[in-house]
Amino acid sequence: MNTQQLIDTAKELVAGDKGLLAMDESNPTCNKRFAKLGIPQTEETRRAYRELIVTTPGLAESISGAILYDETIRQKKRDGTPFAKALIEASIIPGIKVDTGAKQMAGHPGEKITEGLDGLRDRLKEYSLMGARFAKWRAVIAVGDGLPSRSALEANAHALARYAALCQEAGLVPVVEPEVLMAGEHSLERSVKVTGEALRNVFIQLNCQRVLLEGMILKPNMALPGLTCPAQETVNDAADATVKCLLRTVPAAVPGVAFLSGGQSAELASARLNAMNIRFKSHLPWALAFSFARAIQQPALELWKGEEANVSAAQQSLVHRARCNLAARRGEYTDAMERN
Ligand code: 13P
Repeated sequence: MNTQQLIDTAKELVAGDKGLLAMDESNPTCNKRFAKLGIPQTEETRRAYRELIVTTPGLAESISGAILYDETIRQKKRDGTPFAKALIEASIIPGIKVDTGAKQMAGHPGEKITEGLDGLRDRLKEYSLMGARFAKWRAVIAVGDGLPSRSALEANAHALARYAALCQEAGLVPVVEPEVLMAGEHSLERSVKVTGEALRNVFIQLNCQRVLLEGMILKPNMALPGLTCPAQETVNDAADATVKCLLRTVPAAVPGVAFLSGGQSAELASARLNAMNIRFKSHLPWALAFSFARAIQQPALELWKGEEANVSAAQQSLVHRARCNLAARRGEYTDAMERN
């Protein structure tokens, strides 16, 4: 394991106030998002959409790395350039989603366990040869009556740590993503509690598996009230709750925390990240960054609609959202940015 290389890559992923663009939707998820907008769900439309993203002019000014999906890392631009190479040429580090999805956890109704450890060592070798320098694995934690169970928290944390250790062995920086879902009526307080439990379990397991904390990125949810909770706290309250929770659970050795957006609107995700950085940036041990999928892509996808004529407008929207999030890392995001 080349320790220095892992440390350098992890630092590079959060340097310059940039963040990650998650464009690693599995085929079923990508198809679902296409279907809602009447876009045909074919390998070619998925390829064309990802080509739109990787060829967006100016994306690298705000995006340090892009997470690809297995199908996508094997696809090419129309001119024959593989997407991973196109990203490298644009000064964006290619990454790869390596879990094979969250499946029902046996004996645990309503809970999931993420799969993909079998054969992972060989897949990582292959992805590394294709140009990937970091990887992602997502665990999902549902909140509900009696949920999450202790066993779901432990099993998911264990899998995340096994994945992270294998990544580092292969020279890839693991992006460790335990996502506490927003679905449900739970309060902000409960989200803080469950997120804290999930993160504590994750770092216990990461330490057990001898993962180098300096050579990883944490990708957590923000602590937020459930989507159907009647009390929706202010942006500042959610920012305070999230940072308090992270300070209690995330070791200072971790170089960066890159949030997922989890179904928040693009504007709210930027505003909340901005509030955290305004209020806490100067006294935090880690960078507070972003690794959004929907909060960067959704407006662009809605503009594109599968039409060649809309490519440029969609690309402008992608750059705009990426810039808003760069500004949010600096605590300089404002409502006015959305009106320009
Ligand atoms: P969202 O930002 O849409 O939640 O996606 C992040 C992600 O990569 C999920 O694994």
